[in-house]
Amino acid sequence: MFLWGTATAAYQIEGAAQEDDRGASIWDTFAHEPGRTRDGHTGDVACDHYHRWREDVALMSGLGVNAYRFSIAWPRVQPLGTGALNPQGLDFYDRLVDALCEQGIQPVPTLFHWDLPQPLEDRGGWLNREISEMFAEYAAIVADRLADRVPLWITLNEPFVHMAFGYAMGIHAPGQALLTGALPSAHHQLLAHGLATQALRAAGARQVAITNNCTPVWPASQEEPDLKAADAYDVLHNRLFNDPVLIGEYPDLSAYTPALDFLRDGDLQIISTPIDALGINYYNPTRITAPAAEGLPFEDAGITGHPTTAFGWPVVPDGLRELLTGLKARYATALPPIYITENGCSQHDVVTADGRIEDQARIAYLEGHIAAMRRAMAEGVDVRGYFVWSLLDNFEWAEGYHQRFGLVHVDFETQRRTPKASYAWLKEFLEAQKTDT
Ligand code: FCB
Repeated sequence: MFLWGTATAAYQIEGAAQEDDRGASIWDTFAHEPGRTRDGHTGDVACDHYHRWREDVALMSGLGVNAYRFSIAWPRVQPLGTGALNPQGLDFYDRLVDALCEQGIQPVPTLFHWDLPQPLEDRGGWLNREISEMFAEYAAIVADRLADRVPLWITLNEPFVHMAFGYAMGIHAPGQALLTGALPSAHHQLLAHGLATQALRAAGARQVAITNNCTPVWPASQEEPDLKAADAYDVLHNRLFNDPVLIGEYPDLSAYTPALDFLRDGDLQIISTPIDALGINYYNPTRITAPAAEGLPFEDAGITGHPTTAFGWPVVPDGLRELLTGLKARYATALPPIYITENGCSQHDVVTADGRIEDQARIAYLEGHIAAMRRAMAEGVDVRGYFVWSLLDNFEWAEGYHQRFGLVHVDFETQRRTPKASYAWLKEFLEAQKTDT
């Protein structure tokens, strides 16, 4: 069965940051530091999903999706990140999983969507190799409780973005700006993925995947310096996270580091523990040019000539086809089945006087990207599911509540949920899929 779903993440929707013995995460710390997020927004309350989850499950059931990708907050399950369990945290996800199953919605949990327990950050965060083992311990705890009802697990969400924004540039938690010094955070996340894959299987997990954020890389010209820069960017954004997992080796990282000091014997074997599927988050291609100054071996040249989202991201639906067919060409039989675990857009949604949200641009975005995915499938790429980011408008990290990605509008003053026109469109689309098959 093809999975059609929506996706969310714990810190972006749950709120209840201090309830039921939840521990603090790096995002609690970061969002409360002055100047880190737009208008000082935090996820303290977010969509209050921790209290309103029944209503949110009902919204999904009304939409007609058969899957839901959500994330589990590690600090709810283990407030210190290691050792003692918090039964109330596990109970919350247990109830959610039951409610989803009752509605015929398959639960697809992600174990890490950037909300590392703060006590682990105090021990070095992902720069500390030991965190990988702690992650596997946490994965086993969650699987012991939920594996009987979960068809597909995602270990990590977008280790590239966590490394680049969290450790290299300091735009996201934990707010470190180490540039290439951030590379060990990639390796330790990948190691954590491998160890967790093994722990999940030992605990009875059915299928395991990792979600990588991938982008087609477009050289700004066919001149040698631009081609070289584009290749270097492709290595950093895509291959650094796909190669070790799928083929058990790192790409040539010499443009970034003279030596892989963080790599130990046996690590790549762990990282390439076979997975059942690859999660892909796609938002846009990236156009790259040779750098004008010393420093990184590439520069983002920007993409013009396409519509843009409220975030300013170029809307290039065919980039999804290009990405998927490119993965197939690159990895051939080493490429497992793919789930599009996120795709969607922020728009300047307007609530009309009579309370409607006519988000036609979002409908066009989704329609275009689903069609592009289908073209890739017709070209032989094995895609098994598609998840819209996101079910609800939510806390968009450093942008706070300013970027709205939901199929459902959230009034953050009242927590009132209002399905947008895109929700009605998707509902009708999903109904048509049922009659087609
Ligand atoms: C992805 C994140 C997700 C959301 C979307 C817009 O990079 O995984 O949490 O912020 O972007």
